[in-house]
Amino acid sequence: MKRFFSHPLFLSILTLVAAYVVFTQIISPPLPQSIVIQYMIIIAVSVVLVATFEDTSASRFVAPIITLLGSPKMAMARGVALIVIVGGVAGFTYNKIKPTTASPVELRTVHPAPPSSLKVYGKTFNLLKLTNPIRDANPKGSQGYQSAVAEGRQLYYKNCVFCHGDMLDGAGVFAPAFNPRPINFQDVRTIAQLQESFLFWRITTGGPGLPREGTPWASAMPVWRGMLKEEEVWKLITFLYDYTGYAPRSWELEDAPDKSVATAAAPEDKKTKEVSIDTVYAKRCAQCHGVEGDGTGPAAEFLYPKPRDFTIASFKYKTTSADNEFPYDDDLRKTILQGLPGTAMPAWKSILTPREVDGLILKIKKFGDWDEEDIENKPIDPGQQVKTSPESIAKGWKSFVKACAQCHGLSGRGNITSGKKLKDDWQDRIWPRNLTRPETWRFTKTAKDVFERISTGIRSTPMPEHTTTMSTDDRWNIANYVMSLRNTSVQLSKGETVIKARRVDGELPTDPGDPEWGKALPMTFAMAPNIIKEPRLFFSLNDRATIRVLFNDKNLAIRVDVDDRTYSVPGDKLEKQYRLADVEPTRDAIAVQLPRLIPLTSEKPAFRHGDKNRAVNMWYWQAPSVEPKDNARTLVLDANGPNAAPAPRKDTSGLAAKGVWKDGRWRVVFNRSLVTDNALDLQFEEEKYIPISFANWDGLAGEKGGRHSFASWYWLKLEAREDRVTLIAVPAGTGLFAGLLFLGLVRQQRRKFSV
Ligand code: HEC
Ligand code: HEC
Ligand code: HEC
Repeated sequence: MKRFFSHPLFLSILTLVAAYVVFTQIISPPLPQSIVIQYMIIIAVSVVLVATFEDTSASRFVAPIITLLGSPKMAMARGVALIVIVGGVAGFTYNKIKPTTASPVELRTVHPAPPSSLKVYGKTFNLLKLTNPIRDANPKGSQGYQSAVAEGRQLYYKNCVFCHGDMLDGAGVFAPAFNPRPINFQDVRTIAQLQESFLFWRITTGGPGLPREGTPWASAMPVWRGMLKEEEVWKLITFLYDYTGYAPRSWELEDAPDKSVATAAAPEDKKTKEVSIDTVYAKRCAQCHGVEGDGTGPAAEFLYPKPRDFTIASFKYKTTSADNEFPYDDDLRKTILQGLPGTAMPAWKSILTPREVDGLILKIKKFGDWDEEDIENKPIDPGQQVKTSPESIAKGWKSFVKACAQCHGLSGRGNITSGKKLKDDWQDRIWPRNLTRPETWRFTKTAKDVFERISTGIRSTPMPEHTTTMSTDDRWNIANYVMSLRNTSVQLSKGETVIKARRVDGELPTDPGDPEWGKALPMTFAMAPNIIKEPRLFFSLNDRATIRVLFNDKNLAIRVDVDDRTYSVPGDKLEKQYRLADVEPTRDAIAVQLPRLIPLTSEKPAFRHGDKNRAVNMWYWQAPSVEPKDNARTLVLDANGPNAAPAPRKDTSGLAAKGVWKDGRWRVVFNRSLVTDNALDLQFEEEKYIPISFANWDGLAGEKGGRHSFASWYWLKLEAREDRVTLIAVPAGTGLFAGLLFLGLVRQQRRKFSV
């Protein structure tokens, strides 16, 4: 046994396996495969050199190999070895040559080194010495400290909450539109590790201020120095540490960096067990619902829909019967625990205890002066549930056209066809739900939930109850039909960043309705309004885009679909129906942004409009206009930085575009040749990772210029022509060749044994 473990062949194999495990499992971030292969070859060569350096160990090293190759007893093992070698080599070759669509490796430094000095607000700050003036002048807990935290809190909920989230956990309403995601401040690896001067640098200079090693991030973090004053930034920083309960890393601790993490206190809410309901409300709910419960917290100004005003005691979501005014406690409980998807109302399941939730429900009732005595809630009568079936769905569709399509649109996308300008009881304009997007349904998941919504309606909104106008069977059929609409939308492509362009042999489709588009692989991305740079926009009804790309030997076609309830062609009959009273409508528009040059590494151009070294092309399509009369427009614009307006070109290099609006959706097709003779244009190449992003202007909201919604950078990859013959022949050839080599060796050694 000991002989076996000290055998040079065994030791060599052990070394190789250990090295492989270290390279692939232990080193982090993981090394690219090509580098692992290089290292393994170097190590294998060295191991063989060492093992065969002396004659005795060399002969011991090869002895088992010779036995395997030559000994008559080893025929079975040789058979197995032959299969393993042929299969292994063929498989490896196949993996190497097959086209891949994995995302390119994007190596990131989480906290790049800050510069030593920073020029902002007309001053030069020494970042190696800079400390937080608020903390210096006001000890923790003092009056001055408390009021700085309170002001920082207001600033946070007005400016940062959309991305970094209500609980500072990086899960803001617009977070899904950004790649990389906004930072989770609760995570000990973020601000708990940093000095306040680092935060001051990051907040004032944002994504564009990152050094070169941070540029592949294409970070959406805004540049705040133009939008916030110096002391406001310090108040925000003080608030971030106060809320999370972490202590900033300080200069004294510099020599013992780990201590700062150890001294960072656990977040407050985790350590305190018993807190009064008023404190819970003040900390968790007041920033939106207001201290007095009237829905006017500091965050409310920029939110849509607005946080509920509890003083009116009118609630949207309830399972009590149509003639009951109030919800059950359990309805409120469900709202609080699960949140309302598609709105800013967070899910509190993981944060609040059952006792706290009960207390909050009582508090909400107190705000609205509910007279519990008078409330006699009755449940909705479900009758006999109609199970879903093609017949039930077909019946449901008929009733849907009569009762629901006027608001929710024929395809369910919420494009109110009745032409009514719906308002809620607070006189805010309100839009019927897009029923093809279940992830935005607030309180509804199952057919039973839909049945309940239809039966009892949505209070304070125009969505009516249908108990008096419709039989229970009808309501169940409609519920089954509505559930079937869930499958008509393309789900968000979570985590996937590469759009695969499919090759077609014939002509490319120029019309959005062309069945040829069935060949494309649709990808859907979230869009966020431009909350990054003035003129900022805080809300947009159109919040995602679905992309399809096809190409042939000469041209490329991109189709962008955006669910848009309103047809904003100024002066058109339909546009006038939807028009908002106080907004000058603009023309709907959609654009695709591409780099001028395909980058050699995974570095993308700066987040919006590129930068000095990485210029971008924009393909822009704008809907027509009736007043003033104008046709749809297709433009190519050039840009090389966020501060200059993109410049439209006279010549579009043959770019053609066509847009069609139908049933609450724009579909726009862009067509261009793969290669042009203009040096300013992107020249497409197969198999390359090409950055791509999208933007949308909703004319209803008067969006134009910098006021619009957009997506992060993703990758576009044109698939290489799949050459089946090569894909099979090359691996088969290399496998066979390796097998023949092996058999040659066997023959040679067999002869030795038979002598
Ligand atoms: C448009 C979305 C967005 C908004 C609004 C936003 N951020 Fe960010 N922020 C990001 C993203 C994305 C990152 C991560 C990438 C990076 O570090 O640049 C980030 C990173 C940061 C970091 C770096 C933390 C670290 O560990 O390196 C700080 C600090 C920060 N944000 C503070 C703020 C503050 C304060 C505000 C409000 C005044 C704010 N952010 C508003 C998107 C946003
Ligand atoms: C970030 C903002 C925000 C915070 C924080 C917040 N809410 Fe809300 N809440 C909203 C919004 C927005 C709505 C309205 C959604 C709608 O109208 O569809 C809402 C609605 C509600 C409703 C009404 C549901 C209905 O059926 O009408 C209740 C109850 C509620 N919130 C309770 C709470 C409680 C309790 C807390 C604290 C634990 C809280 N909210 C914290 C934003 C917030
Ligand atoms: C008068 C217009 C109108 C009619 C008619 C109408 N709805 Fe609605 N519906 C709305 C509005 C407005 C909302 C959004 C309410 C909100 O967000 O506060 C809505 C929301 C919904 C929701 C979303 C519930 C959730 O949890 O998010 C469903 C489901 C729904 N309606 C189904 C229907 C069905 C089915 C019918 C026909 C039986 C119907 N509606 C008829 C206006 C209408």
